[in-house]
Amino acid sequence: MNLSFEDPRTKKFATNVGLVTSNGPHGHNIMACEWTHHVSYSPSLISVCINPKHATHDNIMASKEFGMSLCSDNQNILSSIAGGSSGRSINKIEGLRELGYAFERASKINTMMPAGACMSAECTLLKTVALGDHTMFVGEVVEIQSNDNLPLLYFNGGYWKIGEIVNKPGQEERDKMKSIIQKHAKH
Ligand SMILES: Cc1cc2nc3c(=O)[nH]c(=O)nc-3n(C[C@H](O)[C@H](O)[C@H](O)COP(=O)(O)O)c2cc1C
Repeated sequence: MNLSFEDPRTKKFATNVGLVTSNGPHGHNIMACEWTHHVSYSPSLISVCINPKHATHDNIMASKEFGMSLCSDNQNILSSIAGGSSGRSINKIEGLRELGYAFERASKINTMMPAGACMSAECTLLKTVALGDHTMFVGEVVEIQSNDNLPLLYFNGGYWKIGEIVNKPGQEERDKMKSIIQKHAKH
């Protein structure tokens, strides 16, 4: 079956907001990417799923590397601008600079990295997988930094901040549940 962006059933996914930076035929570029995931620890791999129509797609295909920064919870405008026009026709990095957003050069790859993200990873392309109407680029992390900022969340078509922590049940209740689950051990 096909499910559209507007379909309420697809709006139950709550995600981070990745900012994918790249450099290639369209020059230095940035786009917002909710389909961003850490998919392996050793080696550390990050996947981003990108529509082939995007300038970022051409850039990554050509350069075989990308930056992936996770938005902090005060970077919703940065995300909206990065996701609001294409590097095919707009130099978003220069526009964002004029709006007061800073960028630094990546240290191990040839892209820019947005300042103030809660996590910034530099990746070299390991694998390109065509999946339906998107391409999954899997990158190996070659440099990574983080700080104490909290991540911005994307849910139901809007931006959210992390809310209340969900408390664990008490130890007694946990022990009771554990003994019930253990009764069903497979022998
Ligand atoms: C919050 C948000 C999340 C997005 N997530 C994705 C995504 O996961 N994959 C994708 O291909 N496009 C995603 N987009 C759309 C692209 O960011 C948008 O089309 C952008 O203009 C592409 O830029 P480019 O052509 O310069 O690469 C998202 C946009 C926003 C605002």
